[in-house]
Amino acid sequence: MTAFLARVGIAIGVLALVAVFTAAVPVAAQQPTQVNPTASAVQEQQLVQEMRRIDGRCTLPDQKACTLEQPAGRDWRQFNQVTLPWIGTIAIIGMLAILVLFYLIRGMVRIERGRSGRTVVRFNAFERFVHWMTAVCFIVLALSGLNITFGKDLLLPLIGPEAFTGWSQWAKYAHNYLSFPFTLGVVLIFLMWIAGNIPSRLDVEWLKQGGGIVGNQHPPARRFNGGQKVIYWIVVLGGGAVAVTGYLLMFPFWGTGIAGMQTAQVVHGIVGVLFVAVMLAHIYIGTIGMEGAFEAMGTGTVDENWAQQHHSLWLEEEKARGNVAAAPSGRMQPAE
Ligand code: HEM
Repeated sequence: MTAFLARVGIAIGVLALVAVFTAAVPVAAQQPTQVNPTASAVQEQQLVQEMRRIDGRCTLPDQKACTLEQPAGRDWRQFNQVTLPWIGTIAIIGMLAILVLFYLIRGMVRIERGRSGRTVVRFNAFERFVHWMTAVCFIVLALSGLNITFGKDLLLPLIGPEAFTGWSQWAKYAHNYLSFPFTLGVVLIFLMWIAGNIPSRLDVEWLKQGGGIVGNQHPPARRFNGGQKVIYWIVVLGGGAVAVTGYLLMFPFWGTGIAGMQTAQVVHGIVGVLFVAVMLAHIYIGTIGMEGAFEAMGTGTVDENWAQQHHSLWLEEEKARGNVAAAPSGRMQPAE
């Protein structure tokens, strides 16, 4: 009897197993042996190539956050991490190298006839104020801007993450806020010196003769010579370009999309580093490059012989107006 009951138990168990197995077989039979869930879907790579971006659907208020991929972002990152630092390094180090070499070969451009002891007013107090306001802003903007491009590679390893974070935060504030007086300065420079900076035939001749800086000729010039006009237009157009693109970046997506923001940033970066390189040459000429130049923006007056050498036609006009004066006694050494 016990053996019979045991056999019945085994038989029921086998039947139950068969029932479970047969119930499971149709489900398993529905599953294909090799699964390919994206068989009929468009490949991601195809989408990116065709549409230049992949957008998802999301409920975030800022719909720009629904962009999942856009190859232009990779190009932009490549520009920032590789191309721009290269352009900046070549332009700035190249310019510094040229200036050092030039100084070693040519030295300071002297006032050939020495100082006359008579002076002529070159820039009034307002012009000098505008110049120095713009210059101070420019220098801070340049250093804080270069920090964005080069700081992480050059400064961070030197001063450590804490100090670099603190400095970068202040640099960014300075960069944003000083953009306003800088822009005002560029507008005022444009307005107050435009009359003397319209290009003329005289400038072509001046540039051809190296302006008396390269070589020893002293081509005639009015208030601003060919070289200064080049600087003036670089300041006006370059300053205008960094201002417009800078404000587009400062107020993101106001009238621009992602592509517009990227273009603004690329233009801002390239014009910015080239602007710095050019202004290094200007600062060189205004300080150690040329005797007697700095006082034009310092005290506002220049020596008559300096004016004769660099701006002969302008000096004639000033003389005709009776604007040449004897310097305060003891300050200047008469040379003749
Ligand atoms: C430490 C920095 C600077 C120094 C020492 C300096 C020096 C000078 C000097 C001496 C002049 C008068 C030249 C003359 O009498 O003919 C001058 C003119 C001028 N400066 Fe500067 N400057 C500096 C920075 C800047 C900056 C940053 C800008 C603009 C962003 C600027 C824009 C101009 C312009 C447009 C002129 C008139 C055109 C010219 O002379 O080239 N300067 N500067």
